[in-house]
Amino acid sequence: MNFKKRILCIGAGYVGGPTMAIIADKCPDYRVEVVDVNAERIAAWQSADLPIYEPGLDEIVFRNRGKNLFFSTDIEQGIRDSDIIFVSVNTPTKTYGQGAGSAADVQYVEKVARTILACSTSDKIVIEKSTVPVRTAEVMGRILRSGSGNVNFAVLSNPEFLAEGTAVEDLLHPDRVLIGAHDTETGKVALETLAEIYGHWVPADRVVRSNVWSSELAKLVANAFLAQRVSSINSISALCEQTEADVQQVAHAIGLDPRIGSRFLQAGVGFGGSCFRKDILNLAYICGTYGLEAEANYWHQVVTMNDHQQDRFVSNLITALFNTVAGKDIAVFGFAFKADTGDTRDSPAIRVCKQLREEHARLRITDPKAIGNAKLEIPESDEVAYIEDPYEAARGAHALAIMTDWKEYKDLDYERIYQSMEKPATLFDGRNLLDRSALFEIGFNVYSVGRAPLTHF
Ligand code: UDX
Ligand code: ADP
Repeated sequence: MNFKKRILCIGAGYVGGPTMAIIADKCPDYRVEVVDVNAERIAAWQSADLPIYEPGLDEIVFRNRGKNLFFSTDIEQGIRDSDIIFVSVNTPTKTYGQGAGSAADVQYVEKVARTILACSTSDKIVIEKSTVPVRTAEVMGRILRSGSGNVNFAVLSNPEFLAEGTAVEDLLHPDRVLIGAHDTETGKVALETLAEIYGHWVPADRVVRSNVWSSELAKLVANAFLAQRVSSINSISALCEQTEADVQQVAHAIGLDPRIGSRFLQAGVGFGGSCFRKDILNLAYICGTYGLEAEANYWHQVVTMNDHQQDRFVSNLITALFNTVAGKDIAVFGFAFKADTGDTRDSPAIRVCKQLREEHARLRITDPKAIGNAKLEIPESDEVAYIEDPYEAARGAHALAIMTDWKEYKDLDYERIYQSMEKPATLFDGRNLLDRSALFEIGFNVYSVGRAPLTHF
């Protein structure tokens, strides 16, 4: 078949995989190929067992794979054959050298730019899909212009705003598609070429055009603002626990003000995921590099509050269990950083479980999708058991901690769970997921986030 254009995506991760699957689905006239250095990951994308879990994704991949959607490890050939290249590699927080623990590690982005330059024999549009520090396009542009000059490159920024667990829905119905381009003839043509792809399914008024730097920065700022809301309500949850105010009632009351809005006001054990911490630390670091110390400190506080919320959850738990969890079994319900994903990156469960282990608690961890990833964070041992069946995980435990808002946990038979646990049985709802009055009626002592505990003593 003669395809109108050939799209390549470098990086077959949580962003690259689903995004390209939707583009292939919606643009049958384009050939879409996803490449990665990780051969195991590519093999999984080619198999019946995709490397990531996202509701609705399997079906879309299976119906397009082999038609106009391909997965490969041949990056160089992919580059040679393509007209449009999305760069969707990881930009983790640096763990070494300058900016360790806060700056973004952009080495993979730079490497990809060098590979694109080395392999290109025709003009390309190169699109930053990965979340990158503002002005990364300048670095990419400089590298891409450092060749012999026979091939022209246009660099665009097109950050991805999808959230895990709802990736397919978010990609199909985005609030906005942001495209940043340079104000040059090449930049404008490239922008419209990309807009045409999205035009296959996204209403034209949702495609927002900006300069490259605004686009790069807007992605960091979007995540910073979202995370800030979570930290803000979590800070209020601590005050609610002291004053008998109920954080859910407070959130509801303030959320009715359209200037505030009701979403992202769910108090809990803190935010996780691959983006929020990384992007805020990066934003703060960037502010610091421009000498904006007050601004850096302001944003850094969002992460400090998140760590504090997780520490506070553990302290509350230990206090409620008579100041010791040593030798006690704690059932941990959920390890994913949120529901509907198997992703455990920066999940609050990691910090909470590590602290409980430091206190010599024994853990019985369950999760519908994340057990495989969880084992990489906290290895299985005599004191840490991974158990598929939540009823089995709760059996004989002194306490049960809800760490992820899986809807499956709402529908369990808590009477049965209560009967199988040590008494007094205590439930710590780190997501305010369950009906706490019903649990209290059953016999549990119930500790929620930002609400007075319900106890039988
Ligand atoms: C986020 C952004 O939402 C998305 O736009 C961006 O592209 C990537 O980062 P994601 O990390 O997948 O997406 O999940 P999100 O739904 O934002 O949740 C992040 C964390 O915040 C989760 O741990 C979630 O449980 C927590 N959260 C969210 C709360 O604790 N309370 C809330 O009210 C909302
Ligand atoms: P995200 O959540 O942003 O999608 P992931 O870590 O899930 O991040 O995916 C990024 C992918 O990019 C990984 O599968 C990684 O192997 C891949 N990758 C990193 N560097 C390169 C590179 N130089 N060439 C090709 N793929 C790369």
